[in-house]
Amino acid sequence: MSKKHSHSSTVIGIDIGGTGIKGGIVDIETGDILGERYRIPTPTPSTPQAVAKVVKDIVEELMTREHAPSKKAPVGITFPAIISHGIARSAANVDQSWIDADVDKIFSEELGRDVQVMNDADAAGLAEARYGAGKDIKGTVLVITLGTGIGSAFIFNGKLVPNVELGHLEIDGVDAETKASASARARDDISWDEYAVRLQRYFSHVEFLFSPELFIIGGGISKRSEDYLPQLKLRTKIITAELKNNAGIVGGALQAAVHFKITK
Ligand code: BGC
Repeated sequence: MSKKHSHSSTVIGIDIGGTGIKGGIVDIETGDILGERYRIPTPTPSTPQAVAKVVKDIVEELMTREHAPSKKAPVGITFPAIISHGIARSAANVDQSWIDADVDKIFSEELGRDVQVMNDADAAGLAEARYGAGKDIKGTVLVITLGTGIGSAFIFNGKLVPNVELGHLEIDGVDAETKASASARARDDISWDEYAVRLQRYFSHVEFLFSPELFIIGGGISKRSEDYLPQLKLRTKIITAELKNNAGIVGGALQAAVHFKITK
């Protein structure tokens, strides 16, 4: 077989973030990323045209690789905003011109193939529920991603309830992500102990509202969990994401595979 043979159980996932756009080829059966991820910095300004061009470049690069899916296979894309029926309804950490943009149409036209677009934290949650730390957990699992903003995924009995925006809960009169995101910690240049105090306030409130079975922390900062997790006192078990920074790519690809009936 040629090196470029296509695989029916692989789907490309693209994770669009405030600083980088990352893609990978995902094995839908296992949730593994096959080969290296490919990353390009998010363009500034991050307008729809500029971002769509970068997404196209990433897909083109991945399509040259071993394990590339077929040319017609859909692409799963995650986006840091509320995505309702393919339309962006917010734009917290990307260019404001995305609000009310038909994200689905923009990417499918640019790529010339079907796409499935979803919220980035929802994608991470879906991936953790299927392949990672939330696998086989009954009841409510909340996946909270600590990054440029705070993203959240609400999973109930393994099913995603989409577009739950718990990063924007108003706590002590301010939008929670302005205090407790990873970027807020860096911006305010506070110690891990001081950051843990902010996380305690945040997670206590979310726990009170939802009484989940499990919290899963995602985002780049989950790698440093020993610096803040031991300080947190909660009733709910709290652990870090198993798929680490790959969860968005994997969840985006999974959602596309489910939507276009490549898998159940
Ligand atoms: C956005 C969410 C997003 C999260 C993480 C928040 O500011 O409102 O939609 O999931 O950032 O990127």
